[in-house]
Amino acid sequence: MKTDTPVTIRRSDYAPPTFLVDTVELDFDLDAASTTVRAKLALRRNPAAAADAPLHLDGDGLTLVQAKLDGVVLPPERLAFAGDGSLTIAGLLDVAVLETVVRIAPETNTSLSGLYTSGGNFYTQCEAEGFRRITFFPDRPDVMSRYTVTITADRARVPVLLSNGNPDGAGDAGEGRHRARWVDPHPKPSYLFALVAGDLVAVSDRFTTRSGRDVALNIWVRRGDEDRCGHAMDSLKRSMTWDEDIYGLEYDLDVFNIAAVSDFNMGAMENKGLNVFNTKYVLASQESATDGDWQGIETVIAHEYFHNWTGNRVTCRDWFQLSLKEGLTVFRDQEFSADMGSRAVKRIRDVRGLRAAQFPEDAGPMAHPVRPDSYIEIDNFYTPTVYQKGAEVVRLIHTRIGATAFRRGMDLYTARNDNQAVTIEDFVTAMQDASGIDLSAFYGWYDQAGTPELTASDSYDPATRRFTLTLRQQTPPTPGQPDKHPVPIPVAMGLLGPDGAPQATRLAGENAAQPGTRTLLLEGTEQSFVFEDVPAPPVPSLLRGFSAPVRLRGVTRDRLRFLAVHDTDPFVRWESGLQYAASVMLEMVAAQQRGEPLGFDAALAEAVANTLAAAGDDPAFAAEALSLPGEGFLADQMEIADPVAIHAVRQHLRAEIGRRCRPALRATYDALAETGPYRIDGTAIGRRALRNTCLAYLTAAGDGPLAKAQFDTATNMTDSLAALSLLADTDGAARDKALATFHARWRGDDLVLDKWFSIQAMAARPDAIAAVRALYTHPDFDLRNPNRARSLIGAFASGNPSQFHDLSGEGYRFLADAVIALDPINGSIAARLVGPLGQWRRQAAARGTLMRRELQRVLDTPNLSKGTFEKVSKALL
Ligand code: PHE
Ligand code: ZN
Repeated sequence: MKTDTPVTIRRSDYAPPTFLVDTVELDFDLDAASTTVRAKLALRRNPAAAADAPLHLDGDGLTLVQAKLDGVVLPPERLAFAGDGSLTIAGLLDVAVLETVVRIAPETNTSLSGLYTSGGNFYTQCEAEGFRRITFFPDRPDVMSRYTVTITADRARVPVLLSNGNPDGAGDAGEGRHRARWVDPHPKPSYLFALVAGDLVAVSDRFTTRSGRDVALNIWVRRGDEDRCGHAMDSLKRSMTWDEDIYGLEYDLDVFNIAAVSDFNMGAMENKGLNVFNTKYVLASQESATDGDWQGIETVIAHEYFHNWTGNRVTCRDWFQLSLKEGLTVFRDQEFSADMGSRAVKRIRDVRGLRAAQFPEDAGPMAHPVRPDSYIEIDNFYTPTVYQKGAEVVRLIHTRIGATAFRRGMDLYTARNDNQAVTIEDFVTAMQDASGIDLSAFYGWYDQAGTPELTASDSYDPATRRFTLTLRQQTPPTPGQPDKHPVPIPVAMGLLGPDGAPQATRLAGENAAQPGTRTLLLEGTEQSFVFEDVPAPPVPSLLRGFSAPVRLRGVTRDRLRFLAVHDTDPFVRWESGLQYAASVMLEMVAAQQRGEPLGFDAALAEAVANTLAAAGDDPAFAAEALSLPGEGFLADQMEIADPVAIHAVRQHLRAEIGRRCRPALRATYDALAETGPYRIDGTAIGRRALRNTCLAYLTAAGDGPLAKAQFDTATNMTDSLAALSLLADTDGAARDKALATFHARWRGDDLVLDKWFSIQAMAARPDAIAAVRALYTHPDFDLRNPNRARSLIGAFASGNPSQFHDLSGEGYRFLADAVIALDPINGSIAARLVGPLGQWRRQAAARGTLMRRELQRVLDTPNLSKGTFEKVSKALL
């Protein structure tokens, strides 16, 4: 039985810090087994706090050697330690200097939070609450301080010593040791502190900002990785230029350092002047990186760089405001990528991602508002809701007030809040003040969980030539929020004539008709919009560009087919094709469940043929249009999912389309064969995507040798991996040989080896669970490396639904076993991986029971981390 149930932190309990810390001097004596950290904090009583309030310092796993207050050693009776490792000191004057000395052990820190070692080098990760694992400190984002850092270490083993800000001298420290000093002139919260030290080499470049500041750019990697940093550096320079061009925001230090590390919990971290990156989002070469990898690097480099203003200069008051920096920064990186390539394809991909991850979250046990009301472990709230839905909410505001007012709002937001820790209200208010538009209703989007359902119906009256469009919204209940209010939903739309031609639109009360797309704003539960002078019954095109993160209902199949062909908006064309296919497939799933023949809707083959015929114009778009709805997307449309039936239907359809469209697919495949040099621009990436989509259909139709031939001759990772993943689904010698060849070639490259694990974990073969269990004991598997753990455990549980949900329950058992083994090593990653078991309510009772049993087994594990406890206990409620 649990004795101490973890504490729930509530947004409504916010209280300002009792003391502020104006300056911090940190001194690190680095040693893998025992590092000494000296901290000197200049404290000042917060005018907003009570005059006699004590000083509260967070601490976690620290060994205190000494504490001095104003130069005098504090006796033990002045130090009140709490069970969580934090320290309270009473009786301080209004101004005081606290000096502490602590010891920590980086080399045994497997949580990868705080100071840890990876490959013999030192790295820190402080967001959200890792700084307290380095020194005693009010570890909360509303305490902002100026940092000076001195690092001392063995010169031979640790030649490079980095921290935030600008370098401020280096020198010999005697006895084979050396030292470096860093000064960060910008006040920052502790979560942005960073230290990186070790045997690293830099790839360097320079950037001159618009106002003439010369910035040294360095990407620090392990020796041997230097030649794989070009794309990251190029992406960084483009990001810096873009933020100046679009937002007038410049970089504000003399150096910008990026360090890549292979043991990292997340994608990357925006520490001031010293970003730390998962190697996955830095290193890439033609041979080793897929097109998805190239794009991921561009996005994440931009994201972290953009945080310098949205996150660092203007930061969050408390962690409930996390989306203030994350939603806004994701919005900014999405726009950057849209400007770098195809806006339409980028939007399609982002919406695909939102629906794959955020919609199910919003419909599951961990559903939470973009601004949560409470948490047990903040690490659990770095979610698709906070990031992706948060970005959608920023986009809603952008759509509502327009690009020009939005830019003015950003200027106002950064000017008013520079060097401060603020709230979502400060962002919305700036946008409101800059636009003169009342945005108060948009708080509903921040504070209410669940995905709104938007239903459209319409009628046409030939006598009055009036077309009436009625929009209705409803949000299903989520845990803790049974009753929902309407939220403002901007619906970008247009009307098409019966011939498919776009119509100008005039709403009742307007003087003139408007051409192109217009945006209706649904504010209440239901609203009708009357269009005048409509010559014939039109087809409405709704939610162009996915103007709001909602589920649109009520569009008939006939209209979907029509819109997929005729609409002017590429998003709606793609979306209509997808929804049409989804509707057909869900019907097939029902047939499969009843044991009836699946049949085939010829319109799907027709659509594929049409798309292939027009593919030359925009191969990347064609590749998106040709991709059938994913298994997860289909499951999310069902009250009770049936992963096995969904998989069978999707396979059947792929094979059927492959057979019926074989000549056209083959012709496209052949025509797109790479001839010139390898390129990673949008067109080249689009061509490879389309070609590999054709390959998938052809392979499904039985053209096995084609994938093998592509695998044998591929000159880049995208083509090699596309072929290998198709082979991995097959049986026989070619499969085993390809997997063995791939392993032999890439055994020395961790990032590629991750792909080798994932491909096998996601192979939908009947022996999948046994294969995954075997890979778990493979000599190259390492539970402690988050990328590797995700590549096997996460890929299987999230990327192989038909096998994970095998009725034996063995898939669930494997996941629970892995989570129980990982939790004491890295609770943060264990809590993330356990997620799929929480979706038991969406499965049939037989599966749900088995899933709950495994959740319970995890919950019964002694000393469970707070994060895993929160996920599992909420899933079982
Ligand atoms: N703040 C990081 C980002 O989104 C994510 C992160 C969170 C990294 C927590 C590490 C730990 O850019
Ligand atoms: Zn971020």
